Amino acid sequence: MELRIENLTKQYGTNIAVNDLSATLTCGVYGLLGANGAGKTTLMRLLCDIQSPTAGSVSYDGMPIREMGDRYRALLGYLPQDFGYYPDFTAFRFLMYMASIKGLSRGFAKDRALALLEEVDLIRVKDRKIKTFSGGMKQRLGIAQAMLGDPRVLILDEPTAGLDPKERVRFRNLISTFSQNKIVLLSTHIVSDVEYIAGSILVMKKGKFIHEGRPHEIIHSIDGKVWECMVPSTTVPGLMERFNIGNLRSEGDQTLLRIISDEKPLESAASVVPNLEDLYLYYFSEETQPASL
Ligand SMILES: Nc1ncnc2c1ncn2[C@@H]1O[C@H](COP(=O)(O)OP(=O)(O)OP(=O)(O)O)[C@@H](O)[C@H]1O
Ligand SMILES: [Mg+2]
Repeated sequence: MELRIENLTKQYGTNIAVNDLSATLTCGVYGLLGANGAGKTTLMRLLCDIQSPTAGSVSYDGMPIREMGDRYRALLGYLPQDFGYYPDFTAFRFLMYMASIKGLSRGFAKDRALALLEEVDLIRVKDRKIKTFSGGMKQRLGIAQAMLGDPRVLILDEPTAGLDPKERVRFRNLISTFSQNKIVLLSTHIVSDVEYIAGSILVMKKGKFIHEGRPHEIIHSIDGKVWECMVPSTTVPGLMERFNIGNLRSEGDQTLLRIISDEKPLESAASVVPNLEDLYLYYFSEETQPASL
């Protein structure tokens, strides 16, 4: 099973949201990382055949998805970034309704809806109206509807937005279990969402993939660019102006800084092993643009 993206481009006027992308997705979890406006949602909408590309194509097992039509939709699950809920529906009724739109049989839909409500921890509130739900609860319901038809291709646009840390862990486990023999693509701003479960990461910037590979491979690209040093806490505001600072931990009147920098930022700084969050900050920090971009 593969989803092949070939020279895919989407242009809005003079703005190129997706710029000549090519990639082949096979079974596994893909994390799509990128800052606001990078083109993640546009790419996902193209992959779901909701928008038509300006140029290029997407094919599933060699067949253009445009030509597959309903056959493609039957094997696709999608959580849009701005998902519209029906406030007066209960969670259960909403899933049954979505299942009927997807053309699932009632018997199958009922079992599947209940199992998914259990998995996203909404079973106890399944008969409550959606308008009484918190943001995180709605998001979990959105994840459940995307998985209803047991899709071969699951595309989730910022599925963890609004989830608390415990729910994030639960979500990661759900996706890991689900992803066997499936293609799962999820976008996020939160690096830890994909660091553990994604076999591959696609880093997107201005409509292009600037990195793709296994998490540890792409992290290597910033080897030697992450530093730590202990400084007097009073000097921190000044240093924050000058450097791209990832983390800081205050220890009395001293502060431990994690600095992302091409060159050694301070005499006392020691090079440390980078992680995915450092990579994200390296490419997406607005303050300190690396020279290579
Ligand atoms: N319908 C549209 N009409 C015109 N421009 C659009 C449209 N949708 C997106 N864009 C533009 O395309 C670019 C990519 O937007 P997109 O929503 O795909 O980014 P994103 O990576 O999903 O961002 P975010 O992290 O904020 O969700 C942006 O410059 C955006 O302004
Ligand atoms: Mg988006």
